[in-house]
Amino acid sequence: MKKMWAGRTAGSLDKIADDFNSSIHIDSLMYKEDILGSMAHAAMLAEAGILTPDEAERIAKALQQISLDIESGALPIDPEAEEIHMFVEKVLTEREGELGKKLHTARSRNDQVATDTRLYMRAKTYTVRRLLLNLIEAIASVAEAHKLDIMPGYTHLQRAQPIVFAHHLLAYAEMLKRDVSRLDGARERMNFSPLGACALAGTTYPISRSFTSEALGFSGYLGNSIDAVSDRDYAVELLSVFSIIMMHLSRFSEEIILWSSWEFSFVELDDAYTTGSSIMPQKKNSDMAELVRGKCGRVYGDLMGTLTMLKGLPLAYNKDMQEDKESLFDATETVIKCLEVFAPMVRTMKVKSENMYRAAERGFINATDLADYLTKRGVPFRSAYKTVGEIVAHCIEAGYVLDNMPLEEYKKYSEVFSDDLYAEISLESCVKKRISAGSTGYDSVDIQINNLKKYINKEGK
Ligand code: ARG
Repeated sequence: MKKMWAGRTAGSLDKIADDFNSSIHIDSLMYKEDILGSMAHAAMLAEAGILTPDEAERIAKALQQISLDIESGALPIDPEAEEIHMFVEKVLTEREGELGKKLHTARSRNDQVATDTRLYMRAKTYTVRRLLLNLIEAIASVAEAHKLDIMPGYTHLQRAQPIVFAHHLLAYAEMLKRDVSRLDGARERMNFSPLGACALAGTTYPISRSFTSEALGFSGYLGNSIDAVSDRDYAVELLSVFSIIMMHLSRFSEEIILWSSWEFSFVELDDAYTTGSSIMPQKKNSDMAELVRGKCGRVYGDLMGTLTMLKGLPLAYNKDMQEDKESLFDATETVIKCLEVFAPMVRTMKVKSENMYRAAERGFINATDLADYLTKRGVPFRSAYKTVGEIVAHCIEAGYVLDNMPLEEYKKYSEVFSDDLYAEISLESCVKKRISAGSTGYDSVDIQINNLKKYINKEGK
């Protein structure tokens, strides 16, 4: 096929090289953004007197029609085309003749592709944002329903201290809130227009970069034309944000997988989000959570691939950069799919509070509170810590838990112990006594849930 850029060369590429060079399979996803960018550019050319108003109007109408035709399927995107920019321009020229050839005045594919990608990703960040908020909302509703349910809190995956299930879930909401904020920040920094930077050096035409930037909803235009066509920081930033989201989802997935095991039995996922085994009839596997955990690696790979592609790349545009969209769009779609399945999976999971409570009863997770009991009665904390350690060792040997070791036995360790110790170290009282801000205490968790609801209302869904 004869190339539109044929001139210096004959424009006939080896077939294998042509396919290798082509990006249509990936950049055709941005056909709408490409057309919107061209419409803004044509309107600006008219404003600058480079096209007549009539020419600009004809181009705008034709571009609009191309967009509609691609959308309806009447105009299939040619898989043999080099890329979406050339494809649109070629169809425009077929439909409008010589006029179509005027569109590319004062523009280059280098500023065009950067503009398209920024516009495309801007829309995607709103989708991801909405899905993050939807997951936060799912967490808030499960937390609300289980704000009194006591479970063991863990460190080193060893039972550590009693907490309420809501408190644990709310930790994930905090992570996701930071993800929303990171995403907003990345979008704000990305939302500047490269259009008008042209190939790299700008143009001799009297264009208005603020015109196109405003028309396309950018906050402004990039101030250095070389930077405008070379910069892919936005891709790296978004990939970092997506990687962090996936890291959060994979930690959450891991816990859901553990909690769903027979060994924990803290939750049971709804049938809609589990699969069976082809040979083991008893199995109910947490495939969705496992897949999310696995896909985290894929998104990290997209980030690393992009960083490595950019490393040491000289200014300005280099064809290496065509690779950016493969990683960026793959990560975007992966994050979207993971979030889409995650929120309803969390919302519908059955929480087995009795099992959580039973697990909390064992494992001496009120030992810290027993040490606090002594400390509050004048025993220095380090001595109290040592005494309680000895008591725990004795309990394990004698088959007690702290709650049922007789008072006479306690007295052997310290005269300070009296009958009120049992009430103080009950799981409920351990939770209730946690009064510090952000803690697992019932009042504190109520505050956290209310704050989260306010956040959801403020940020919108
Ligand atoms: N397909 C190219 C990309 O995605 C578009 C820009 C091409 N520019 C060029 N000078 N060949 O990066």
